[in-house]
Amino acid sequence: MIKVAVLGYGTVGSGVVEVLEKNRQQVAGKAGQELQVAYILDLRDFPEDPYADKVIHDFQVILQDAEVDIVCEVMGGVGPAYQFTKQALEAGKSVCTSNKELVARHGAELLEIAMAHGCSYLFEASVGGGIPLIRPICNALTAEKLLSVTGILNGTTNYILTRMDREGADYGQVLNKAQELGYAERNPEADVEGHDACRKIAILSSLLTGKNVDPKGIYTEGITGITSADFAYARAAGCSIKLLAASHIQEDGSVCAWVAPFLVEMAHPLAAVNDVFNGVLVNGNMVGEVMFYGPGAGKLPTASAVVADVIDCARNGNRTISCGWSEEPARMSSFQKISHVFFVRASEKAREEVLAAFPVQKCVDVAERTEDFGFLTQPMEEGVFAQQYEKLGDKVLGRIRCLGVQ
Ligand code: HSE
Repeated sequence: MIKVAVLGYGTVGSGVVEVLEKNRQQVAGKAGQELQVAYILDLRDFPEDPYADKVIHDFQVILQDAEVDIVCEVMGGVGPAYQFTKQALEAGKSVCTSNKELVARHGAELLEIAMAHGCSYLFEASVGGGIPLIRPICNALTAEKLLSVTGILNGTTNYILTRMDREGADYGQVLNKAQELGYAERNPEADVEGHDACRKIAILSSLLTGKNVDPKGIYTEGITGITSADFAYARAAGCSIKLLAASHIQEDGSVCAWVAPFLVEMAHPLAAVNDVFNGVLVNGNMVGEVMFYGPGAGKLPTASAVVADVIDCARNGNRTISCGWSEEPARMSSFQKISHVFFVRASEKAREEVLAAFPVQKCVDVAERTEDFGFLTQPMEEGVFAQQYEKLGDKVLGRIRCLGVQ
């Protein structure tokens, strides 16, 4: 029997306990022995909970119990989670986590510590929630030279954009509704400003390159500037609008990653990823493009991924499970040199001047809009586009990059 400690009894933590309980037999069969929840660490008490007697408030109890082999860190945030993870790994206890902020910021260091102490640091649930993604990238696709990853990695913003698209509603209205339904946090900043997707693409980029990609080096733009007018033009152009996170290995081996809203052509597989679902395309030099799709968030899908890691640790005992992510910093290339097709919305009064400033591919007409107009550019380097766009001041009203629009 292996003793497991759960750090954090929130949504994911209670899900981990539920999966271990409901699938007890299945889990024991796969792990080769029974897994027992020995402790649940939380600041709060849960007197009505069936696991109330397992709830403790002092991490040292877990650290000093030599029988605890596996720790599930599902507290979130960097704060105490970083210290607890480090101490657990240094004590030879494997740690399984859904904490993308911690993995993105300190993953390389924590993986080295795990290696040095004969245990594992696993983070399947940190990207894509319940979608198997980290393990396929590290195992099933391990013969590949991975070239790029492009995906919808944030369920909250995908829900908001899907509602805006279907209901023609404005961002603020849909955000309020999403908060009422519990899909969006009361403080939605990490999701709507793109920080959550940035952390996730930093993790995937590190796995792609085997080197450490710092989230601070990733161009990040959220969805707060997207309006119902943008959706009207997107529809006219045969597109939807999605918050995409992408990472591309350049020919010189450097990596460029970004997070931004994109007009995505309806025929593109990512256009069909709606509501809180996530979808990820991974490109390898031998396999071509593979797609992963499923619930990117939520209690049980995320918990299931954490428990899968727990089982992997149980099976591997003192053998460190490695994903080949080193502390060496990845060489980053400039986002300014990346080319995109841009959709531009501009004031009707400045039509001639604005059109003359860009290599125009085609105009996008929406009959009921008389004050503004839209068009698509030819592919342009980010830096060149930004220079032209900024020169036009308030004559331009918005711009969104495009995917799959030629
Ligand atoms: N806030 C995250 C999302 C939760 O909306 O995708 C899952 O990481």
